[in-house]
Amino acid sequence: MSKVTVVGAGNVGATCANVLAVNEVANQVCLIDIKEGLAEGKAMDIMQTAQLMQFDTVVTGVTNDYSKTEGSDVVIITSGIPRKPGMTREELIGVNAGIVKSVANQVLAHSPNAILVVVSNPMDTMAYLTLHSLGLPRNRVIGMGGALDSARFQYFLAKALCCNQNDVDGFVIGGHGDTTMIPMSRFATYRGVPVSECLTKEQLDEVVKSTMVGGATLTGLLGTSAWMAPGAAAASVAEAIIKDQHKMIPCSAALEGEYGYKDITIGVPCIIGKNGIEKIVELPLNDEEKALFAASEAAVHKTTNILHEINAL
Ligand code: NAI
Ligand code: 2OP
Repeated sequence: MSKVTVVGAGNVGATCANVLAVNEVANQVCLIDIKEGLAEGKAMDIMQTAQLMQFDTVVTGVTNDYSKTEGSDVVIITSGIPRKPGMTREELIGVNAGIVKSVANQVLAHSPNAILVVVSNPMDTMAYLTLHSLGLPRNRVIGMGGALDSARFQYFLAKALCCNQNDVDGFVIGGHGDTTMIPMSRFATYRGVPVSECLTKEQLDEVVKSTMVGGATLTGLLGTSAWMAPGAAAASVAEAIIKDQHKMIPCSAALEGEYGYKDITIGVPCIIGKNGIEKIVELPLNDEEKALFAASEAAVHKTTNILHEINAL
């Protein structure tokens, strides 16, 4: 029997629960929110698609009662405020730190062995906060950002190549921020062929730029941050854990010397399985990529330090 709890039944949380159910990732999905009736309503709405979509997963919704989350294998934290047009993810830190810390404590009290997937923004900092406030081993706290940014990178690559997205491979490391993420063009391929063989430098630069502002572009169009791809990306991380897939997914992980850094939680390629982060993959970065990673680490570090300034840690 497998169980996933999704904290926050808003746009991302409800979408994630829906993907988990439709793909039958777990037997049970529990949605929990602070807003009276919201999680119950979203869960009921999803369950009324079970016959239409042909799934057996049971989705339940609950307001604030963490005892119902008991025995979860994976807990996905999406509670918090999203960005509005013109806002950065970093501006959300004060409000979201309090919410994330409080819900992380409550879920762990009822599911002491759960793997936690942190989605709330600024995600790298919220993952750091979760890890350090709960004192968990680093394999058990995974920040979801790279899975989404990589999906966006592949979308823009496929558009530039005029090809099927499934024929494209590419990933993004670094912080989950408009200026901190690093789409790894050098390793991106079209059916195994380096994309630099198929696209001009100008085209590739444009793909990288579109990827980096991918979230902001959607926030401008939607008036709030996106939820379809974020929900699906969080569900894909949970699936890798529940099914012990040993998939390589870029996730925000606590570094302990990898890439030359420690005391930071930032996006790097990780092997994800039943123990959460099974391994951090160290890529042979060239000098330019090392410089980009150093700048990203410095920016994420600066945001993470705010946790101390506001006494969240
Ligand atoms: P939303 O506003 O639609 O949903 C957030 C939900 O959290 C609301 O239903 C709210 O009632 C709930 N909530 C607030 N405090 C709570 C508490 N103490 N306990 C339980 N529930 C609580 O927002 P949305 O669009 O779902 O985004 C959620 C978060 O995810 C935001 O911080 C957003 O920036 C972030 N995000 C992160 C992404 C990533 O790749 N890491 C991608 C997209 C969004
Ligand atoms: C996104 O990338 C805002 O983190 C959110 O869509």
